[in-house]
Amino acid sequence: MSVNKEIKRITTHTIREMKTRGEKIAMLTGYDYSMARILDEANIDIILVGDSAANVMAGYETTVPITLEEMMYHASSVIRAAKHALVIVDLPFGTYQGGSSDALKAAVRVMKETGAHGLKLEGGIEIRKTVERIVDAGIPVMGHLGLTPQSIYKFGTYTVRAKEESEANKLKLDAKLLEGAGCFGIVLEKIPAKLAAEVTNNLSIPTIGIGAGPDCDGQVLVVNDMLGLNKGFKPKFLRQYLNLYEQIGDAVGRYIQDVKSSDFPNENEQY
Ligand code: KIV
Repeated sequence: MSVNKEIKRITTHTIREMKTRGEKIAMLTGYDYSMARILDEANIDIILVGDSAANVMAGYETTVPITLEEMMYHASSVIRAAKHALVIVDLPFGTYQGGSSDALKAAVRVMKETGAHGLKLEGGIEIRKTVERIVDAGIPVMGHLGLTPQSIYKFGTYTVRAKEESEANKLKLDAKLLEGAGCFGIVLEKIPAKLAAEVTNNLSIPTIGIGAGPDCDGQVLVVNDMLGLNKGFKPKFLRQYLNLYEQIGDAVGRYIQDVKSSDFPNENEQY
């Protein structure tokens, strides 16, 4: 086996060291080979093969319908492109809520069949035993608290979570439980910035925020949202760096015009 010594892979240890050093962690979602290659070559720290693939790749309204096989297809495409980034994969809804032995089977399949470096699971105390079992099997796990989209039918809305004291207290407890269960990091989604700062300061493992303010140890965005591919989706927390929806539309319009007018292909674009 040949090993490329030039490329230094980010690991879960690197991520924990970054928190210790006070270096912010940059994470983006990725679902396919071409985009993952761009993210990796731009030196992103973590690529999350998020189950948001259900929304942005498959067009579902929620993340609930995506299957383990579909997640594994996205994960193996990303893994083939990522030479440097840590690649974490969401276990989809229904694969781990039923008990820890089902969850371990799903976790092992993702790790063996895609080459992923770790998994992400949503929830707190309810999944503590499952997290422990997966971590005990040698699989790194990232937690996910706050807005947990797989439970959308329980919450009924995508608004900010943990504004009430009781929910904020549960979240703080859940974060400590996940740390104790062996998680190497926790995503905090759509919670008040002050609460995210408190949770971050109380943990030795890094927090990665999305709509959780500036004091998390890192930030994550859905790549299609930050590139402006997802027309009309502009929540307050989103910083949109490009407007690819319009730019791609313009390019396709010009291509159509060039074909219709017989301008394409010209003499340099043929054999
Ligand atoms: O699935 C996803 O994209 C996520 C991020 C929003 C954290 O879980």
